[in-house]
Amino acid sequence: MRGISKGLGDVIISVEKLCKNYNNFCAVKDVSFKVRAGDIIGFLGPNGAGKTTVMNILTGCISYSGGSVKILGCDIFNEPLKFKKSIGYLPENPPLYYNMTVFEYLKFVCGLKGIKKYKEEIDKVFVLCNLADNQKRLISSLSKGYKQRVGLAQALLGSPKVLILDEPTSGLDPAQIVQVRNLIKALSKSHTVILSTHILSEIQAICSRIIIMSRGVIVADDTEKNILKSNKAEVYFLRVYCSDKDTIFKIFRGFSDDLVIEDVEFVAQNVIEFKIVLRYEFDDVDFKISNVLMQNRIPILKFLSSGNTLEQVFINLIENRH
Ligand SMILES: Nc1ncnc2c1ncn2[C@@H]1O[C@H](COP(=O)(O)OP(=O)(O)OP(=O)(O)O)[C@@H](O)[C@H]1O
Ligand SMILES: [Mg+2]
Repeated sequence: MRGISKGLGDVIISVEKLCKNYNNFCAVKDVSFKVRAGDIIGFLGPNGAGKTTVMNILTGCISYSGGSVKILGCDIFNEPLKFKKSIGYLPENPPLYYNMTVFEYLKFVCGLKGIKKYKEEIDKVFVLCNLADNQKRLISSLSKGYKQRVGLAQALLGSPKVLILDEPTSGLDPAQIVQVRNLIKALSKSHTVILSTHILSEIQAICSRIIIMSRGVIVADDTEKNILKSNKAEVYFLRVYCSDKDTIFKIFRGFSDDLVIEDVEFVAQNVIEFKIVLRYEFDDVDFKISNVLMQNRIPILKFLSSGNTLEQVFINLIENRH
């Protein structure tokens, strides 16, 4: 499943067997994927999965230990200056100079990027990031969300073809989150975007493809629809009349390796609630679950299915790596 792309455009980024070691610790291992023009790729993964490491490598901020990365046909190791012009990066911690005003900082970044008509370019990103009213303010005096906007603005200067955004909505209030999401969606018409986030609904709202990382490797790379289809993770909530929690575990023992019982607890006297998580699909699940309970003379008081959710698939994919 790795390395596929659902976008229709040209290949913009090609990552092959990328590895990053810190002494004996392997932060990224054999990561391969392709990004096509117009893709909005959402990087998902628990803390420490390797998302920032991959992004730092793609933007030339850190070196890598093995594999290869090509951006717009340039090998990032051999042609670092050429590819960097095509990339706008919003790092996890935006590199802001707190003693500069917003305008001064963006002018400074224009200088670094070799942008001559800096005023026009800054005006453009002010509008995009809704920053015009704050241009004379010292960065140190801005709220976290506004600092994030300045970080996004510097990434957009020069209209780079590729935008790499590490948790772009972190620190923003709900209204700003919606604004930034809409902005990213609009930008994706003219830019290729890779973003990371911990917010699953964000990925669902804006990304055309999801790459899930865990412990330095890619565990899923596909559209949300296909990931849900190929990683069945149905959850059932049950309330039964039973006086002993162990009975619940006992009767489902040997049922299937893909069935896990979770959160077993008394909610009233002799009333137990628990969760059944199914890692993979098998036939007539509802019937089989209710049948085994009835055979053991356990009356069912409630039986709900949550359906297949990205959240559950995410948890299962991550847990399978442990
Ligand atoms: N300079 C470093 N030296 C040693 N280990 C590092 C270094 N930088 C990162 N790591 C380790 O590499 C792993 C991947 O880190 P990374 O920051 O890429 O994770 P992440 O997926 O971005 O996590 P988060 O969601 O918390 O931002 C972690 O175990 C981290 O501790
Ligand atoms: Mg990170």
